Amino acid sequence: MSSIKTHTFDAVIVGAGGAGLMAALYASKGAKVAVLSKLYPTRSHTGAAQGGISAALGNLEEDRWEWHAYDTVKGSDYLADQDAVDILCQEAIETVIELEHMGLPFDRLPNGKISQRRFGGHTNNETGKPVMRACHAADRTGHMILQTLYQQCIKNEVTFFDEFHVVDLIRVDNTVRGVIAIEIATGEFHIFHSKAVLFATGGWGRCWEVTSNAHSLTGDGAVVCLRRGIPLEDMEFFQFHPTGIYKLGILITEGVRGEGGVLLNDKGERFMERYAPTIKDLASRDVVSRAIYLEIKAGRGIGGKNYVHLDVTPETVNKYLAEAGETRRIDRAYIEAKLPDIADFTRTYLGVDPVKEPMPVQPTAHYAMGGIPTNVDGCVVIDANNTVLPGLYAAGEVACVSVHGANRLGTNSLVDLVVFGRRAGRHMAEYCQGADLLPLPEGAADEVVAEFERIRNNKGGVKPYELRKRMQHTMTENVGVFRTEETLSTALTELRELRQAYQDVEIDDKGKRFNTDLLEAWELGCLLEIAEVTAVSALARKESRGGHARDDFPKRNDEEWLKHTLCHKEGDSYRLDYKPVVIGRYQPKERVY
Ligand code: FUM
Repeated sequence: MSSIKTHTFDAVIVGAGGAGLMAALYASKGAKVAVLSKLYPTRSHTGAAQGGISAALGNLEEDRWEWHAYDTVKGSDYLADQDAVDILCQEAIETVIELEHMGLPFDRLPNGKISQRRFGGHTNNETGKPVMRACHAADRTGHMILQTLYQQCIKNEVTFFDEFHVVDLIRVDNTVRGVIAIEIATGEFHIFHSKAVLFATGGWGRCWEVTSNAHSLTGDGAVVCLRRGIPLEDMEFFQFHPTGIYKLGILITEGVRGEGGVLLNDKGERFMERYAPTIKDLASRDVVSRAIYLEIKAGRGIGGKNYVHLDVTPETVNKYLAEAGETRRIDRAYIEAKLPDIADFTRTYLGVDPVKEPMPVQPTAHYAMGGIPTNVDGCVVIDANNTVLPGLYAAGEVACVSVHGANRLGTNSLVDLVVFGRRAGRHMAEYCQGADLLPLPEGAADEVVAEFERIRNNKGGVKPYELRKRMQHTMTENVGVFRTEETLSTALTELRELRQAYQDVEIDDKGKRFNTDLLEAWELGCLLEIAEVTAVSALARKESRGGHARDDFPKRNDEEWLKHTLCHKEGDSYRLDYKPVVIGRYQPKERVY
């Protein structure tokens, strides 16, 4: 350990997306903070969030934070903790205004207020009709949040360690003492010794074949914690966004449907009229993704293939707007102004001009509702009694507060990361002021250094990309939008074989500098582990709820399953435990859209 460079900070934040940056900004008001990211910060995946961040500002029509809360709870299929949802929706308003004051270039209305658009599952609770709640900067909202927060962090002198890949957490009994990271440029290990650590490392969509997630989304933060005795909550709930570009998975924002776009099957039918008669294409994502699968299964995919059309051509949209009695009309200039990125993506990747023709789309693995369990201040909790592990925090997609329950509403990820990133950062600053820097244990990095040396020198002959391909295939086939006992058991058998085979993974690059071969092989270990946790948790939950649709248990079963799953790693196996859902104003009832 003596040869390993050690850095000392009050607080270390792992991940530089929106949650990490917001936490860093607030923590830095009272503590010496380092942000570590395996990427250059502004390449973080928050930048891929397109359509908007919801807050009941009511800039175009009446809206209330309580309506936002109800929609969030209903969207979650009643699994969200309602105390946390109230905080999310109340604080969304001041947080969006705060972002505006930081300089975020939101689209504007003629009166200068922030522009808002419709999004899936966001409604006027009195009429049941869609409400304009999503504040947006064209279709680059996440990108703008990321740039704005990064600039604020630089202004506030937060220290960044770019391209430092965190691979272990230093935990001694019920205390945390820092993290171990690899400096990607040199291959050297570094110890970051601190009083507090926050994980904001995002999700793990790379477990599936077709995903909107960047290559970097391999679940590292969640798995590092799992390996250090932190359970993972509600891992069976993974969201498939209805509209990824066919085969590529790249996100086509729900904002397209918010602006009036519609989903059409091979017969040209607006099929969502059958699945969600009131809000149609703007039903919650779990409902729309299932509808697309059912259309495809019934042979109504386009040309009999695995995709449907998303049509935002002015001709089609204006026809439906007129039918709905709306006076608004759209044209080419409107689409180019409101949806420039998606127009660019489909022209570049598909040669499809969305102003003239429909876009081929299919559901794409998008967002983890589950993750590291926390309370509403971002403090990590380690059991069903919500016992806090002092000094350990999580925020953003990697965390499970839980405000998304079994299905997240579009735009609520951006709200989550700024609201709970801010709360966690504040709490960390206070915690660090009262806490001591505890000594590092002997050999803090030994275990993870040995694992990397094992992978580097292994001669087992198994290629990481072969295992990755098999994992993604079994997750897609067996742990996708629909699941059964049979498919989940098949996945588990295969994932266990893959875990075994992982012991023989052999890489080609034995060097130190920029050894992405080595790091990707290590990331594969994280993906395999998180895939198994997902399948184990999903097999146990014998009901259908939100993003977890069991063909063999098609109904939601509140009597037995209105509870959160906690998955603990014990040696080489997993133990499941459960904790109650916090119910507030909204008693569970059947969801109708
Ligand atoms: O559709 C979208 O723009 C995605 C937003 C989100 O996941 O919240």
